[in-house]
Amino acid sequence: MYIKDLSKYEGQEVTLRGWASNRRSSKGLEFVILRDGTGFCQCIVDANQVSPAVFEKAGKLKLESSFSLKGKVVKDERQIGGYEVHVSELEIYQIAEEYPIAKKEHGVDFLTDNRHLWLRSSRQWAIMKIRNRIIYSIHQFFQENEFVEMDAPIFTGNACEGTTNLFETNYFDETAYLSQSGQLYGEAMAMAMGRIYTFGPTFRAEKSKTRRHLTEFWMIEPEMAFFDIFDNMDLIEQFLRRVVSDVLRDCKNELEIIGRDTSVLQNITKPFPRLTYDEAVRIIKGEQDVNGKNSIKELETELASVLASIDEHKKEIAEREEKIKTPGMKKGEIGFNQSKIDKLKQELADLEEQARNIPQWLNSARNFTYGNDLGGSDETVITRLFDVPIMVYNWPHAVKAFYLKRDPDDNRFARGVDVLAPEGYGEIVGGGERETNEQMLREKITEHELPMEAFEWYLDLRKYGSVPHAGFGLGLERLVTWICKLPHVRESIPFPRMMGRLLP
Ligand code: 4AD
Ligand code: MG
Repeated sequence: MYIKDLSKYEGQEVTLRGWASNRRSSKGLEFVILRDGTGFCQCIVDANQVSPAVFEKAGKLKLESSFSLKGKVVKDERQIGGYEVHVSELEIYQIAEEYPIAKKEHGVDFLTDNRHLWLRSSRQWAIMKIRNRIIYSIHQFFQENEFVEMDAPIFTGNACEGTTNLFETNYFDETAYLSQSGQLYGEAMAMAMGRIYTFGPTFRAEKSKTRRHLTEFWMIEPEMAFFDIFDNMDLIEQFLRRVVSDVLRDCKNELEIIGRDTSVLQNITKPFPRLTYDEAVRIIKGEQDVNGKNSIKELETELASVLASIDEHKKEIAEREEKIKTPGMKKGEIGFNQSKIDKLKQELADLEEQARNIPQWLNSARNFTYGNDLGGSDETVITRLFDVPIMVYNWPHAVKAFYLKRDPDDNRFARGVDVLAPEGYGEIVGGGERETNEQMLREKITEHELPMEAFEWYLDLRKYGSVPHAGFGLGLERLVTWICKLPHVRESIPFPRMMGRLLP
């Protein structure tokens, strides 16, 4: 019996097992929030209704103690989950030691150090449930569309995405790399099966600490024979629309727990704007507006309002801090003011972060050099102007991977496409049409200083029944981060791996 099924047992006696995520006492009553992995539920132990032994046990439940209970299911709309349980019996598995994660705010480093416990909090629980729904939806979409899931190896003998961020390992005295992408294998598998997708862990030795980068992340990489870049973009759009719609329909409760404003997610039914690299650059540099919005002007206005808001926050904090020093102030009033001060300080920290970021974004937008790849700041600048994902295609070939097809209409560009998530999130998908010309590929491999012999098997694909084909890679954690509107990618995966983070 699980909490998620309580609605089917209204008025009946049920048995539940789980952990105490909160408890408070009030005049002969114990209110315990039980969590069992499927949900959260308030359980009431009434001294007048249970034996003294049961009431005593309930009073001993410290945070995260494990226990089981029997009780009657009662509908109560005001409660989380809409039901509560009136307890008759209670058995303890274990009384927990003092739980390190209290209700008060903790720093994120402390929480990440305690990730093995942090996962139990309702917010992390909700994020993981959403991640799970996304994974399921991804499989559903591809399986329903005649794709075959095939797995690419993790140990590889060749780089796929350049040599700067490879993890090297000793493979019986040979050098092997942890896979950066399953794509090259995906191309081989697509020539065998028509449409495939891989779904596996990928590794990048990212030496930068950003809110977008993990060293180990999960990537979904479909590859399709007979697709060009435009078919590819159509597929990406359908795919993301499907996944986001499933989450909106099936994870209402979870989205509410994390406080996600879903209005932007609802826009997923709108067409995704497709911009060439050239257009994207003009928008970033403020030379072209988006729906009347200019990147540079928006940022300047926002910076001014952030700075004004910082002043207001500081003033109000000072006033309230002065006020609670008033002699004879009631405890309740002091508490009220203190909690206001805590909230204001939290907001102030966010505002100060924005005040540090916006000038950097402005700087990078103003000084963007045509021909460069988009950096994290540029992606932020452009995607803040949109309320749907955008697709940027036709990139200068020099800044993209060796395998992308050169644009037949303009040799300066390669047929790559990046999908950038709105609200400042940036790249979630990278993909494109693949080069089919063996000679062009050989030149590119040489230009990128990659060892030709490691790619001979890949070049074989261009000799035996070569066809136009395309594919893309979606970073699962980047998608979870955007859908949940998380401040940092680390909360999107159970145990994040980043530079300087190997435990827990
Ligand atoms: O753009 P990338 O490097 O493209 C590829 O690897 C292609 N071979 C994919 C393909 O066409 N089959 O990576 C694809 C996606 C990015 O858009 C991003 O979502 C994610 O993988 N990604 C990362 N996610 C978290 N941490 C990192 N360090 C990431 N690097 C890439
Ligand atoms: Mg990319």
